[in-house]
Amino acid sequence: MKKNTKKWSERFSEPTSEIVKRFNASVAFDQRLAMYDIEGSLAHAGMLNKQKIITAADLKSITKGLNQIKKEIQSGKFKWSIDLEDVHLNIEKRLTDIVGAPGKKLHTGRSRNDQVTTDMRLYLREVVDKSITQIEALQRAILTLADQHITTIMPGLTHLQIAQPISFAHHLLAYFEMLERDKARFQESYKRINVLPLGAAALAGTSYPIDRKYVAKLLKFDAVMANSIDAVSDRDFLIEFNFDASLLMTHLSRWSEELIMWSSPFFGFIEISDGFCTGSSIMPQKKNPDVPELVRGKVARVNGHLVSLLTLMKSQPLAYNKDNQEDKEPVFDVADTISDTLNIFAEMVAGLKVSKESMEAAAFKGYSTATDLADYLVKKGMPFREAHGVVAKAVKYAITQGCDLSELDLKVLQKFSTSIDQSVFKCLTLKGSVQSRNHFGGTAFGAVKAALKRAHEKLV
Ligand code: ARG
Repeated sequence: MKKNTKKWSERFSEPTSEIVKRFNASVAFDQRLAMYDIEGSLAHAGMLNKQKIITAADLKSITKGLNQIKKEIQSGKFKWSIDLEDVHLNIEKRLTDIVGAPGKKLHTGRSRNDQVTTDMRLYLREVVDKSITQIEALQRAILTLADQHITTIMPGLTHLQIAQPISFAHHLLAYFEMLERDKARFQESYKRINVLPLGAAALAGTSYPIDRKYVAKLLKFDAVMANSIDAVSDRDFLIEFNFDASLLMTHLSRWSEELIMWSSPFFGFIEISDGFCTGSSIMPQKKNPDVPELVRGKVARVNGHLVSLLTLMKSQPLAYNKDNQEDKEPVFDVADTISDTLNIFAEMVAGLKVSKESMEAAAFKGYSTATDLADYLVKKGMPFREAHGVVAKAVKYAITQGCDLSELDLKVLQKFSTSIDQSVFKCLTLKGSVQSRNHFGGTAFGAVKAALKRAHEKLV
């Protein structure tokens, strides 16, 4: 019989089969947590010494060994082994190889169950910080573009039909607002990430006289998890992060869809710079908006991971279960996807070329000032429903003439209502329509300027 080579226990007399070894091992992906694992171990060892559970000499050896391992990993010299299952056991074994007996004391009062979730929290709080910074960079790119387009008029759409003329900057600021909420959600989630599970050990706590608050202080956690069972089994913070990322990606997919439409020759509103497009191997005229298309596509994997994590936790009995090893790959992929997406999106937005002329021409084409004519009649004393009917008839007539409402003669317009006079033309222009919506949150140039000012102030 082969010798037992299991790292966690002498209880077993038979070796693990190769297939189970591979199935069980997470080191291929969780080695990404190595630096956080070492950070957590240094704090744990520091606390063990402060509490006189290990000696100062032990702490010194452990610290020296862990720092050496850090260097080995950073320089790519560290040898990861799937026989050692995961990042935690790989590092612990190497520590013992380097420093001998003191290395074997590191795991006192600790379990991989509280260790792994501590690592994930240390990792995720950095991811969240970075995401917030990246969201702000994209918001800055939005504001730079919006600053140049306060008076650029485009057709505002509902049901993808021309609705009312709006300022392009106003449209851009809608995305600024969505990103503000995305940012707030990440900030809010930080509170629930930054709580220390260590000290829960396997699930019930430990009989050693540990000082969890001290470890929290060393690792800059705001608080200590209040229940040891919850501490090792909670993955809410990962699910919540994934949800926040899904909503962020959903917002970016909406904008991507618009960028794709706007850059098609049917719209011709914008041009995405060459670096963000590809050509076709068969159709020489093509310039494909691959980047926004991919962003639109990537929301699928982020949403898929959210369903994975929710399903992973569904019906899991307390406390830790090995199922939770499956939490890592989705979370890493979500973090990488949103980081790449935010980076590339900010650059793409900075390079957008905008065709004011096409936007205005499109707004002019679609009877986008019809509501303004109705409002004009209401101000002259007509009930709104009646005015709506009158304007519908005028639009129907203009369509037969192939012209805009503003291009009809006053005499013709008066056939639809005698209360129309020369002043009507002011409200039928695109600019007149936009300028009339001059209130907080509206699209008038002044209101947009004020919104931009508020937005800039939020980012300083
Ligand atoms: N690799 C494991 C995970 O990712 C670490 C915790 C394992 N704990 C255990 N009792 N087997 O969840």
